[in-house]
Amino acid sequence: MTTAVPHIRKASPGEAGYLTGLALRSKAHWGYAQDFLEACREELTVDATRIGSDDYLSFIAVDGNNILGYYTLVPMSASVFELEALFVEPEHIGTGVGRALIEHAVHCLAKKGATRLIIQGDPNAEDFYIAAGARQTGTLESASIPGRFLPVFEIEIDGEDSRQSLRLDCGSCIVRNWRRSDKTSLLENASNRKIWRNLGDRYPYPYTESDADAWFAFLEKMEVPTHWAIEVDGRAVGGVGVEPCEFEYRRTGRFGYWLGEAYWGRGIMTAVAGAASDHALQQFELVRLEASVFAWNPASMRVLEKCGFVREGVLRRSICKDGEIIDSVLYAKVV
Ligand SMILES: CC(C)(COP(=O)(O)OP(=O)(O)OC[C@H]1O[C@@H](n2cnc3c(N)ncnc32)[C@H](O)[C@@H]1OP(=O)(O)O)[C@@H](O)C(=O)NCCC(=O)NCCS
Repeated sequence: MTTAVPHIRKASPGEAGYLTGLALRSKAHWGYAQDFLEACREELTVDATRIGSDDYLSFIAVDGNNILGYYTLVPMSASVFELEALFVEPEHIGTGVGRALIEHAVHCLAKKGATRLIIQGDPNAEDFYIAAGARQTGTLESASIPGRFLPVFEIEIDGEDSRQSLRLDCGSCIVRNWRRSDKTSLLENASNRKIWRNLGDRYPYPYTESDADAWFAFLEKMEVPTHWAIEVDGRAVGGVGVEPCEFEYRRTGRFGYWLGEAYWGRGIMTAVAGAASDHALQQFELVRLEASVFAWNPASMRVLEKCGFVREGVLRRSICKDGEIIDSVLYAKVV
């Protein structure tokens, strides 16, 4: 079963009772006996009076009116937070809700400038936390069951990029700097033949972990980043960028973008390309942004046309891609 990437929002005090029930149902998923679950009840009870307070972050994943899961965070110091709870409704376990929640928590903490997230996890969830980028640092006795030792994990958080940090609110999404903590969602969305087929050969397929590491290393060397992530519901699901040209072309930039296939057809790239092209022209003092679109890619041509780019001509048989020689179409936006 797969669930679309859920919407994540702050919990409200009125939802505390429901979240307590969800935590108990979720814990029961691991097959624990009833008396064990009763022993955990107090620890799993969500206190309505804490929701909304400054030292307690509580977010829920929803699909319409349905609550799919939630997490809560408490500060241990200004830069270290503990994941107090993270639970997913049993029928949605294994559908990506948990990962969306943990990534949301990490992004949330990165924005606060936190450096570490500590997790005392259920032993059954070990693989889940490791896949989310955690490493085990030790074990700790359970607060509910004396003598039961639980693994302790830690996720290192890279705070917001302090260089020219960009944040363009495009309505349905945000354009902002890439961060290393985007790696999981980058790999999930970027490794797609349909995307590779429409981009230059520097874009790899399959898109591997070492490609992602190289991408972050490339960006980190830039004094001013010229490529940005497209964030939807807290996850980086695409990229947009500009490459300023040199010498006599120095007031020209090459514009490019891609979006995870799951997000196509919602107007996201139209919103992004409009805002990012205007931003790039201004930030890099360009007077011309050009994009070369492969002849088999009408969706991208449509995006550019909707964002003020003008079709300037066809470069016949200019592209050698995916075993074919094809035309490309040159679009440009000038100021
Ligand atoms: C091209 C891409 C970025 C589009 O993103 P998107 O968010 O789906 O785009 P939008 O929803 O904003 O707009 C797509 C437009 O193309 C139209 N479109 C889609 N498929 C089309 C097709 N086969 N023929 C004609 N128009 C098409 C849509 O109807 C829509 O136009 P409309 O709003 O006038 O109806 C996305 O498909 C992608 O990442 N592709 C792979 C990488 C790529 O092509 N990058 C660009 C290289 S130049």
